[in-house]
Amino acid sequence: IQTVHLANGAEAVGLFTSDAANAEILGSLFDIGVRYVCLRSVGYDHVDVEKAKHLGMKVANVPEYSPYSVAEHAAALLLAVNRKIVLGQKLMDIGDYRIDALKGFDLHGKTVGIIGTGKIGRAFAQIMNGFGCNLLAYDPVPDHTLQSLINITYVSLKELYKYSDVISIHCPLNVNTKHLICKEAFACMKKGITLINTARGAIIDTMALIDALDEGTVGFAGLDVYENEKRFFFEDVRYQKNGDDLFIQLRSYPNVLVTGHQAFLTHEALTGIAETTVSNLNEWAERGYCKNDLF
Ligand code: NAI
Repeated sequence: IQTVHLANGAEAVGLFTSDAANAEILGSLFDIGVRYVCLRSVGYDHVDVEKAKHLGMKVANVPEYSPYSVAEHAAALLLAVNRKIVLGQKLMDIGDYRIDALKGFDLHGKTVGIIGTGKIGRAFAQIMNGFGCNLLAYDPVPDHTLQSLINITYVSLKELYKYSDVISIHCPLNVNTKHLICKEAFACMKKGITLINTARGAIIDTMALIDALDEGTVGFAGLDVYENEKRFFFEDVRYQKNGDDLFIQLRSYPNVLVTGHQAFLTHEALTGIAETTVSNLNEWAERGYCKNDLF
């Protein structure tokens, strides 16, 4: 709300995932003349879409920009937590070349469960197929074209939890998926699974994840997102006193690797975001609507 005034005199604003666009903020933007909200992201869980509709504002996203950027980062997190790349580097930095603490596991032959096989989940499935993994998937809208390309079996969520050694989340955050990965979900999983989340933090109940780490249900977690990330991701908070206790606790586990919502950050993805954002704005300017309008 403090930065709404920056849009004074503008008809459109460009928002990223860390920018809130709740009812109050949309109302204030509307009051100063903003009619178009151009999202530079795929996800739009940070926008009160109903309020925008009610105000008659247009909202468009960037539905696709290099799904490989996020899928490849998910693979990077999986390999890094499993093969202890960060710890290995730290030991090397101090001249400790022992490898006793660095044992990982082969991905080949493991069962990988993918929640959401849209553009990113599909790309991730193809990467994991290349590693020789067995693939399970859950998606309310199964992608049969993917099944004609690789060996992947759609199962119920319960079955995915039961049989997967690795679970990677690629569904959107919405009312159905908030805290989808909760105490009850962890209770259905194999012991020692590796959990990867490059989708949205709030799909996982972080407190339940911490319990699952304590109990050994989760052996490794690789996370690019965190449910309260908006408080500090993308900012330099080194000199701020009040930390986020839940995040500090999560980060205290040596088997948890967190990156700061950087999965999308590749040259190709940024170019795609910029091009689609400009074309959304041009379409609005020319005809008042655009192909990526959310409604
Ligand atoms: P997409 O719309 O192509 O695919 C999402 C898939 O999830 C669809 O197939 C849909 O049917 C499925 N889905 C919906 N509800 C589900 C549920 N309850 N359980 C399982 N699957 C469900 O979206 P895309 O491009 O693959 O992106 C997925 C998510 O990744 C985005 O919503 C966004 O939150 C996140 N993302 C994260 C980025 C990062 O930098 N960390 C960057 C870009 C996207």
